[in-house]
Amino acid sequence: MSRIAYVNGRYLPHAQAHVHVEDRGFQFADGVYEVCEIWNGHIVDMTRHLDRLGRSLTELQMDWPLERRAMETVLRETARRNRVKNGLVYLQVTRGQARRDFAFPKLPIPTTLVVTARSTSPSVAVKNSEDGIAVVTTPDIRWERVDIKTVSLLPQVLAKQKAVRAGAKEAWMYDKEGYVTEGASSNAWIVAQDGTLITRPAEKGILRGITRAAIMDYAATNGIKVEERHFTLEEAKAAREAFITSATMLATAVVKIDDAVIGNGQPGSIVSAMRARFHEGVEKLPLSVY
Ligand code: PDD
Repeated sequence: MSRIAYVNGRYLPHAQAHVHVEDRGFQFADGVYEVCEIWNGHIVDMTRHLDRLGRSLTELQMDWPLERRAMETVLRETARRNRVKNGLVYLQVTRGQARRDFAFPKLPIPTTLVVTARSTSPSVAVKNSEDGIAVVTTPDIRWERVDIKTVSLLPQVLAKQKAVRAGAKEAWMYDKEGYVTEGASSNAWIVAQDGTLITRPAEKGILRGITRAAIMDYAATNGIKVEERHFTLEEAKAAREAFITSATMLATAVVKIDDAVIGNGQPGSIVSAMRARFHEGVEKLPLSVY
């Protein structure tokens, strides 16, 4: 089955799905994106993802490419046309196509909207959940506005490549003071000896993850304490458990940070329970509403 992408109003086979050479996303990484999980034929936390998209657009003074309702339909329809039952739907909005010039185009131009969807491998998800993952560490060399979910991801590309080269699945970045900021494409968490979940405050230095928010809801429902505070790599390496959260990895145990083994080297009981019950509390909207 050929994969289908939505590009500016049309559903096209991937081979024909293109944006213009002078699209500002291509020229300047002048665009934003979202990734939503599709679970069992449902889009997970679409409301929160589109709320965050709205914020990213506002921060960069960009317009919505479609009304929000229409955007929801396109996300569902793209997933449906690709027959995704479990996987992800990706959307990207750029400032549009214009002659290359750093400043915004003088006359209003339509923003570009691209949506793709794909299935993910259940066996990889099971393996990640059973074995946990290793992470490497790397300095955070990003700009200050990492709260905006932009497609300007070169530092994360380099960080992830460092991880892959070391046989790890993720890279944890740390700031100039040695505090962990977040993963290249996930939020970073540790579990203290007393079971408290610790994650960096979202005011500065990280993306306010939607899965992070879902884990906070889970913790509140289940009487688990959460502390939003900075933590160092040393504290992380000595933690009872460590984990990452993202729309694609849910809550996944980190069992190794560089050469340090976390706990007994197996996913701990707290993250394993959170992962097993993750979908109980989240918003799940069916792909088909017809
Ligand atoms: N990445 N931090 C960064 C830098 C991210 O890129 C992501 C998500 C997260 C987690 O956010 P959420 O829980 O909303 O997925 C944190 C997505 C999955 C990606 O780029 O593919």
